Amino acid sequence: MDRWTTIVEPFRIHSVEPIRLTSVEERQRALEVAGWNLFGLHAEDVLIDLLTDSGTGAMSRDQWAAIQRGDESYAGSPSWFVFLDAVRELWPFEHVIPTHQGRAAEKILFSVLGGPGKVIPNNTHFDTTRANVEFTGAEALDLVIAEGRDPSADHPFKGNMDVDALERVLAERAADVPVVFVTITNNSGGGQPVSMANLRAVRGVCDRYRIPFFLDGCRFAENAWFIKEREPGYADVAVPDIVREIAGLVDGMTMSAKKDGMANIGGWLAMNDAALATACRNLLILTEGFPTYGGLAGRDLEAIAVGLREVVQHDYLRYRIRSTAYLGDALDRAGVPIVKPVGGHAVYLDARALLPHIAPLQYPGQALAVALYREGGIRGVEIGTVMFGLHPDGTEASAAMDLVRLAIPRRTYTQSHIDYVIEVVRWVAERAADLRGYRIVEQPTQLRHFTARFEPLP
Ligand code: F0G
Repeated sequence: MDRWTTIVEPFRIHSVEPIRLTSVEERQRALEVAGWNLFGLHAEDVLIDLLTDSGTGAMSRDQWAAIQRGDESYAGSPSWFVFLDAVRELWPFEHVIPTHQGRAAEKILFSVLGGPGKVIPNNTHFDTTRANVEFTGAEALDLVIAEGRDPSADHPFKGNMDVDALERVLAERAADVPVVFVTITNNSGGGQPVSMANLRAVRGVCDRYRIPFFLDGCRFAENAWFIKEREPGYADVAVPDIVREIAGLVDGMTMSAKKDGMANIGGWLAMNDAALATACRNLLILTEGFPTYGGLAGRDLEAIAVGLREVVQHDYLRYRIRSTAYLGDALDRAGVPIVKPVGGHAVYLDARALLPHIAPLQYPGQALAVALYREGGIRGVEIGTVMFGLHPDGTEASAAMDLVRLAIPRRTYTQSHIDYVIEVVRWVAERAADLRGYRIVEQPTQLRHFTARFEPLP
């Protein structure tokens, strides 16, 4: 196996979807209509859609077969028990509460645990997590290690929590901290993994202050693969065992099955605390549905159950992590600044480094993302000052980094699609000095990146 270096996708294609290259003029018009916000485009006008790896992956033959087994009973469906067994095989929590996606789990959990005066530490909150924390009046605190905030710093586990900083927060404000979170992998910090040693250290601190420790587990299988590859002692441990070891360190989790559930929709909230579970289930019934389906169809529960068994397979994870690295390494060799090392689900272009002539408050990430679409029909997403710069009090400040994320949907694009992406990014990077910044002409008060409208600066 190791004799050959070509990445062979561990599947062949069973069903295809057409994609179409538009002209630069067509894309320019589409941008004007969308207010230069790539979320506003018609997806049919996108050639290679790297907006997100969430819910955009290809399901397997076995997942589609499982869809046919979906049982749509309102309560106690057999599909629920299939789902529950598959979740518990990796995450043996007492209480598993299905939700329609990750943010629904966050909304429910923080409605119970959040509130004014509370503070939630995390390595880095994802945008919906931060928004759900702040919506309750609580404070979302990001405590990733210093290397995790420096795009060019090399570190095998750049997603790690700064355990000393966590200790300082708890020493001062433990009574205000209802839960400590760690996000695996750390999406907003570049898709970087968290080590088992770091999770163990966070557990130790939480134990001393008697505070529950939860995971945002969206990309747990990718994180486990990095532990296997990079952390001493894990080379010969199977990924499902690594996941179960992680599960043993935490009190609960939120999960979006649209990532490492390999499904197009779904998620869950899980925990061991019975009283907390009861409070969460009561809210679930208000907004999601009965506790044995929680906003999902029985067929979705079946697809996730199969996906969870596929996502921890070593052939799949080796291909997954190597193919993301293939894109990152090629751009790095071409001198395009990226977050290093390359994360699990995406390559993050460092727009602030590539476009030093565009000030953070003129949104260099937005400028780069728009250029990739305009020139090559590639859609990425700004993760920077547009996404994180507007604070709940209405003030604006530059984010820690201005990145453009090229997220790779699971099992969806081939190596030649990625070769095309490399060609376009290089072309745009060579002409970076010609790009101009943007200003925002219209925006909501929260999660502005989804709906804000922009105008190019002269
Ligand atoms: N947590 C993390 C780390 C995420 O990456 C996401 C979603 C969520 C929570 C929320 O899950 O979308 O199912 O409600 N991330 C997607 C992305 C949207 O593009 O990174 P959801």
